[in-house]
Amino acid sequence: MRARIIVESCFGNTQAIAQALAEGLRAAGASAEVVAAADAGALAEDTELVVLAAPTHNLALPSPASRAQAVQRGGQAPAAGVREWIATAQPLPNARLVTVDTVVPGMFSGSAAKDASRKAKARGWRAERGPSFLMAGDHLRDGEVERARQLGAAWAAGR
Ligand SMILES: Cc1cc2nc3c(=O)[nH]c(=O)nc-3n(C[C@H](O)[C@H](O)[C@H](O)COP(=O)(O)O)c2cc1C
Repeated sequence: MRARIIVESCFGNTQAIAQALAEGLRAAGASAEVVAAADAGALAEDTELVVLAAPTHNLALPSPASRAQAVQRGGQAPAAGVREWIATAQPLPNARLVTVDTVVPGMFSGSAAKDASRKAKARGWRAERGPSFLMAGDHLRDGEVERARQLGAAWAAGR
């Protein structure tokens, strides 16, 4: 299976989840590449699994304004992210697209993955919302990287 993980991350946590998803996919025999959304461009036609991974910003996918807020808090801001990739990439009719995110859990967390799956469906992708990976303050909760590895392996097995 050929998988492509398209990631956006301001503080490195969503990047760590993306790498772990790729490790799990590879450990289960898939070919998996992680690429920054700003550099992702068009996908090879034989891509079977597309994963979109983004941090939740203001309840949804990051935007130029929220990325600027992240920079004010000491983060890095890519020139473009998952929001812009969805808006411009040509959908692949046969690919499975799954969205994941990172959130600071709470009553009003929102979800970049939910936003991304809606936007991707509206563009014509066969999109499904995957899990949110949980932060504890400014770092990932214990066990979340391992959960991502296991999810990657499950995808490679067709689950
Ligand atoms: C501008 C901004 C807005 C945020 N809004 C939310 C939010 O609405 N819900 C939430 O759960 N976390 C929110 N967060 C926390 C991010 O989810 C957290 O920084 C992110 O998951 C870390 O991922 P990263 O290290 O890949 O950037 C926000 C962070 C920033 C910088």
